[in-house]
Amino acid sequence: MSSPVELRDESFLLRCGQLAALADGRVGDSPRVGAVLVFRGRIIGEGYHKVAGEAHAEVNCLASVREDDRPKIPDSTLYVSLEPCCIQGRSGACTDLIQRHGIKRVVFAQRDATPGVNGMSVGILEEANVSVTEYNGFKPTLAPNRFRKVIASQERPFVLLKFAQSADGFLRPENREEDYWLTNPISRRLVHRWRANSTAIMVGGRTIVEDNPGLNTRLFPGPSPRVIVLDPKDRCTGREKIFRQDRKPVVFSGSDRPDLKAEVVPLSSGWKGALPQVLSWLHAARLGHLTVEGGAALLQAFIQQGLWDEARVFTSPQQLNAGLAAPALKGEVRLLREEKIGTDLLRVFARIGG
Ligand SMILES: NC(=O)c1ccc[n+]([C@@H]2O[C@H](COP(=O)([O-])OP(=O)(O)OC[C@H]3O[C@@H](n4cnc5c(N)ncnc54)[C@H](OP(=O)(O)O)[C@@H]3O)[C@@H](O)[C@H]2O)c1
Repeated sequence: MSSPVELRDESFLLRCGQLAALADGRVGDSPRVGAVLVFRGRIIGEGYHKVAGEAHAEVNCLASVREDDRPKIPDSTLYVSLEPCCIQGRSGACTDLIQRHGIKRVVFAQRDATPGVNGMSVGILEEANVSVTEYNGFKPTLAPNRFRKVIASQERPFVLLKFAQSADGFLRPENREEDYWLTNPISRRLVHRWRANSTAIMVGGRTIVEDNPGLNTRLFPGPSPRVIVLDPKDRCTGREKIFRQDRKPVVFSGSDRPDLKAEVVPLSSGWKGALPQVLSWLHAARLGHLTVEGGAALLQAFIQQGLWDEARVFTSPQQLNAGLAAPALKGEVRLLREEKIGTDLLRVFARIGG
């Protein structure tokens, strides 16, 4: 029986985009991909890429099909948010998988810019009499892999700025004798979820010394990002929390610091060339998603140099009256979304041209 509602390709691609967005940090910087298998308007299989180096979305989708529905696979359409791969990689070519299952129609959104793929799969599938339809401009599936476009086109990680400000625009109170929190516990947990989706997290040396943050994902299940510190004046003492965690942080420092339990990278041209040096280092280390969590000087330096792609700004209802001023986003900025997280207001901005 066919579906009573005529569903279009875009509806199923939209579902692929939702599935792709479920991927968390275990995918690392690999593409986030979702796939659905549709037989006469009914979804009979769904899957997404969950762990880097393991099964692709197409494999998980086909594996999810119930025994009763398996004979329908060759007469179904496979929808994927990204072009299926045609290279062996770590998990086999999906173009082979499609042919093995006798699938005759494939619909995907964006082409995969990975060298060796990038449109090649279309020819391979068409050669094998599989009909292929592409929706390159389909926006909902672009978002989960936006960071990969930045890596490929700018040879640097995607840079996400995150900070919290008081209702009157301060990052922290003037005199802070004890711990302070601007945001509520739900927002804080959300931040840990974002951390699990970043491969690197960066703060300035003064934030390490003054706040002593853990910079891990203790409030959300998922991998912790690699900690990066910019410390041109060698402020870190080595006694802070980040130096007591399993994975060594990377400290870009003013001098050699054999006393630090860290991977120390001396800054080659003071803090003026610091950010390009850090971003090149991250790119070479294949850490493609950086979250910058403060403080004010570091965030402002990224903004000033136009080295950012997205900013997530919490505004709490607290009034501080005085303190360290929050950074101001400058240049061409677009508000992507705005939502209330309990008492906090979250605004997400994109840098235009980023
Ligand atoms: N509300 C929030 O979301 C939030 C988040 C994080 C931190 N904070 C607050 O922010 C405070 C720290 O902020 P902060 O602004 O004082 O320092 P910071 O941003 O944590 O540290 C800045 C670091 O970058 C260096 N630096 C300064 N200007 C630079 C530039 N143009 N390019 C590259 N590097 C540069 C500084 O060098 P020097 O060593 O020479 O100073 C310093 O090591 C903390 O007290 C913390 O409480 C608030």
